[in-house]
Amino acid sequence: MADTLTITDNRTGKQYEVPITDGTIRALDLRKIKASAEDFGLMTYDPAFTNTASCRSAITYIDGDVGVLEYRGYPIEQLAEHSSYLEVAYLLMFGELPTADQLTQWKQGITQHTLLHENIKHLMRGFRYDAHPMGVFLSTVGALSTFYPDAKQVDDPEVRLRHIARLIAKTPSIAAYTYRHTTGRFYVYPDNDLSFTGNFLNMLFKMTEAKYAVNPVLERALEVLFILHADHEQNCGTNAMRSIGSSEVDPYSATAGAAAALYGPLHGGANEAVLKMLEQIGSKANVPAFIEGVKKGEGKLMGFGHRVYKSYDPRAKIVKQAAYDVFEVTGKNPQLDLALELERIALEDEYFVSRRLYPNVDFYSGLIYQALGFAPGMFTVLFAIPRTAGWVAQWDELHRDADQKIARPRQIYTGHRTRAYVPMEQRA
Ligand code: ACO
Repeated sequence: MADTLTITDNRTGKQYEVPITDGTIRALDLRKIKASAEDFGLMTYDPAFTNTASCRSAITYIDGDVGVLEYRGYPIEQLAEHSSYLEVAYLLMFGELPTADQLTQWKQGITQHTLLHENIKHLMRGFRYDAHPMGVFLSTVGALSTFYPDAKQVDDPEVRLRHIARLIAKTPSIAAYTYRHTTGRFYVYPDNDLSFTGNFLNMLFKMTEAKYAVNPVLERALEVLFILHADHEQNCGTNAMRSIGSSEVDPYSATAGAAAALYGPLHGGANEAVLKMLEQIGSKANVPAFIEGVKKGEGKLMGFGHRVYKSYDPRAKIVKQAAYDVFEVTGKNPQLDLALELERIALEDEYFVSRRLYPNVDFYSGLIYQALGFAPGMFTVLFAIPRTAGWVAQWDELHRDADQKIARPRQIYTGHRTRAYVPMEQRA
């Protein structure tokens, strides 16, 4: 049986055959289907890319129906159990788990870039005390492009790799400075003797003591959260990274754009929105009324639902477990019982069951972040740090892909056609 699709255009009676490759047809193959010689040719209409593959990628695999997530073929559960975030970043970038030597080299290559230029500090000080951390984070990441003008050489794989290392290394430093800024504390320089997450915790929470003692349970929990958030194929933020990157702009500008996409409450901003929602609900007794309100369209159940997952998000399962580990150290987050009750009721309710709405990664992560001492405004920044590893791996893959060009969708024009200019005095 041939891997082709035969299309009959009922406007003309003509038949066309287009090849099927990897379960897709090329949208451009439809262009030859024309109602008349002057016709532009058939296009597809797919707002929000619900059924359009924008690239070929070998980085992350998701089967949303059964809740499978793999980085380069390795199940997320195994990576979360055995790996470190930097090891996973290497895997995403180069396609294989590193040998011990490769990992040592990679870590050294990242660690040497954790410091920020002193002017970044001055720049960050310019933000208001109550500036949203995500606004500070994405602006500062974008500002890095002015410090590294050579990053514009996006065609050079070595230059790309240098700036990829910088981005992975500097995003925790920017995030920590952001946190210290919003809490009115002095900025803490990176300590490269510590692990990636240990150093991050040190930059966040060190006070006047000579040495901040990093709690190993919290260090590992953060490492697991970083692994879970590292990549998720062509989501809104990654699509922004690729789309912006396709103009051949430098990676700092593209990452700032990807972070802006992540900021939205329907995407990475959902972790912050979940906590606000739990605060608004207040107590278990109010859960049924809240659920009824959601069903009437009075708002969404934040942290529920996913474009791709139509079953339990595998990351949410691991986050839920990690939450219990963290609460052993920090004490239970009082909002946990409320979240569990919300999940229990929603998973039994026909509205959510029929729409296949399950908890996503953001449902429980905020409870951990809050237990670690963060205000909700910081939650999405904590997501953006590890997602940087995914963004840069996808951005690098984009630049290696001969099929890719500047991203430029088409439109169906619904406005007026050529009209005569109306002078001001004649306008209604
Ligand atoms: N609460 C209530 N109803 C919902 C929810 C929700 N969280 N999510 C989807 N629905 C409903 C929709 O209203 C729609 O109902 P309808 O068929 O009666 O119109 C149906 O389920 C299908 O939903 P869509 O909006 O078509 O799904 P889409 O794939 O476009 O959206 C999204 C996915 C944005 C994640 C959505 O589920 C949502 O807004 N969830 C809440 C925000 C959230 O948690 N975002 C984080 C996602 S994970 C991440 O980005 C890191």
